Amino acid sequence: MDRAFEAQKTLARLLPGINAKRWKNKSAKTEFKANLEQHFQRLFDALVELYGHHYDLHFHLDSLLNHLAAHYDANQGIKLASTDPYWYQSEKNLGMAVYVDLFAGDLDKLRQRIPYLKSLGVNYLHLMPLYLSPEGDSDGGYAVSDYRLVNPELGTNEDLKALADALHQEGMRLVLDFVFNHTSDEHRWAQAAKAGDKRYQDYYYLLEDGDEVAQYNETVREIFPTVRRGSFTWVEEVDAWVWTTFNSFQWDLNYANPEVFVAITDEMLHLASLGCDVLRLDALAFIWKQKGTVCESLPQAHTLIKAFNACLRICAPQLLFKSEAIVHPDEVNKYISVEECQLSYNPLMMALMWESLATRETKLLTASLKRSFQIPQHTRWVNYIRCHDDIGWTWDDAVAGQLGINGQDHRLFLNRFYTGQFEGSFARGVPFQMNPSNGDCRVCGTLASLTGLESAVEAKDAKAIELALRRIRLLNAINLSMTGLPLLYQGDELGVLNDHAYLDDPHKREDSRWVNRKPLTEDDFALASSVSAQGRVAEQLQQLITIRQSHAVFGSSQTEILETYNPHAFSFARIGDRERLLVIANFSEQRISIPGSITDILASIQMQDLLSGKALERDKPIVLEAYEVVWIHTKASA
Ligand code: GLC
Ligand code: GLC
Repeated sequence: MDRAFEAQKTLARLLPGINAKRWKNKSAKTEFKANLEQHFQRLFDALVELYGHHYDLHFHLDSLLNHLAAHYDANQGIKLASTDPYWYQSEKNLGMAVYVDLFAGDLDKLRQRIPYLKSLGVNYLHLMPLYLSPEGDSDGGYAVSDYRLVNPELGTNEDLKALADALHQEGMRLVLDFVFNHTSDEHRWAQAAKAGDKRYQDYYYLLEDGDEVAQYNETVREIFPTVRRGSFTWVEEVDAWVWTTFNSFQWDLNYANPEVFVAITDEMLHLASLGCDVLRLDALAFIWKQKGTVCESLPQAHTLIKAFNACLRICAPQLLFKSEAIVHPDEVNKYISVEECQLSYNPLMMALMWESLATRETKLLTASLKRSFQIPQHTRWVNYIRCHDDIGWTWDDAVAGQLGINGQDHRLFLNRFYTGQFEGSFARGVPFQMNPSNGDCRVCGTLASLTGLESAVEAKDAKAIELALRRIRLLNAINLSMTGLPLLYQGDELGVLNDHAYLDDPHKREDSRWVNRKPLTEDDFALASSVSAQGRVAEQLQQLITIRQSHAVFGSSQTEILETYNPHAFSFARIGDRERLLVIANFSEQRISIPGSITDILASIQMQDLLSGKALERDKPIVLEAYEVVWIHTKASA
């Protein structure tokens, strides 16, 4: 089949319908048509690949284009916060992820916190899902009952719009979640399915045959094994099993049905119309299932994302996608391209910074990033240390094996280290989702508690406090200097400790991720601006941010991960047109010394450590104290 020709022919058949629509806005009509002509081929290719065998694909295409056109007509007015399409590459960027209620109370109060965020340097605000969701347990909002309705406890749709406008006025970006792998079992589609409506039953994976369920379970990974074994939940109303990768009230959508693609695209466009700049594609690895496979990151998952991406190019071109794939590094990287997700979480660097802190060795971090850090032009990592979820030890076992590390054993060690079962560990973490069959588990806790601040403060041990503060600074210094957009997690900027109050809430008790989801109080903010350990956390972070935002080399530049030939040191260089930067970090409590030749990469004799303000002499060894980091900077010679 000559795809280009078929695409043209199909578009020619569909256009009269689009033209005949009643357009409110004449210029929107012209622009939309031009966008379609430019991007339709990509959309068509993806949809034919996924749904070419459906006799009614043309009907779905027609309906999709009508949705896109209606959206374009209604929202053409959405203005870009800036005209730079590559804003996400700038050194000025700093992200923060917050829960509306835990961070501020509600949307209105969050708007009042904009000056605080601004003073910190934050210009990218990710709001955890704030849509209508079931009362009680809603997986922190990740079970959506209505994509078009703000959870009334947080405010109204108008409040969200007002927040988006207020952020944009300050030059800040709004990031919302697109939770599209599943809906809650209270979503109207799920309700209709439960009521026996065949059309909506096809929106989900409902299986009547227990053997089939068993066949799928054999090859599919269990994500929440303490919630339920296997990936299916029995639904009394219809005498069938429904696919539930996560909690039993989160029903996976059936993307093998083209109608689901069209329906959810319409929901996505609604989120776009709220004025957000980035959509976080939640749990995107799970969106396509096929018997006999792991049902994660299948090729069709990529095709689907390309199709969503093409819809945005046609109708909301300012929007970017951020991938949330917390999977094997090779699979993480496959989602990253301008045709799929321009942004992606960097779970590899995240996990391996924690790994290096525990072992005081950097070989796995260095070797893994050498292999996996490079991503295509005009895409960026979103670097982070902690988030609202657990830490999963997702590195490539083959890379570990080459270094003499047994991946599985090492994961067990790290879980013990971070959950206080390893003697001498500084960390105070909590295990998450221990799998009784294979002993797998993940770790939760705040930045401060996992780096030892909690135990040190409790023991009133000044030396231990100092070391914990240095660990926090070390992680922040890497996160803020590595190529990408650094993302802070609410409370970590204040040195907030683990919060065990979730244990008293029957809806949260079983989900230890709540230990790092503390409602922030005035006291938390006050402590962080007082003379205290928390005050030092905040102060150190602010210094790093200020320096980052005032040097272009932190934005666009080439990145090279370097060998230091020292087991405790991690180093990388950033080579820009006018500036160069060499970062060296000591992951141990020992003083270490790195031969001066490492600075050759800067090709300069005028070097300064931006963090201490000291000038460096060429060829002199670089001495790093316990957990010290240097940001060696130079202006590139012409
Ligand atoms: C993502 C979210 C996590 C949630 C899951 C299911 O991984 O980060 O919090 O439990 O998706 O939506
Ligand atoms: C798994 C999933 C990830 C999700 C997490 C929630 O790691 O791969 O998407 O965020 O579970 O705990």
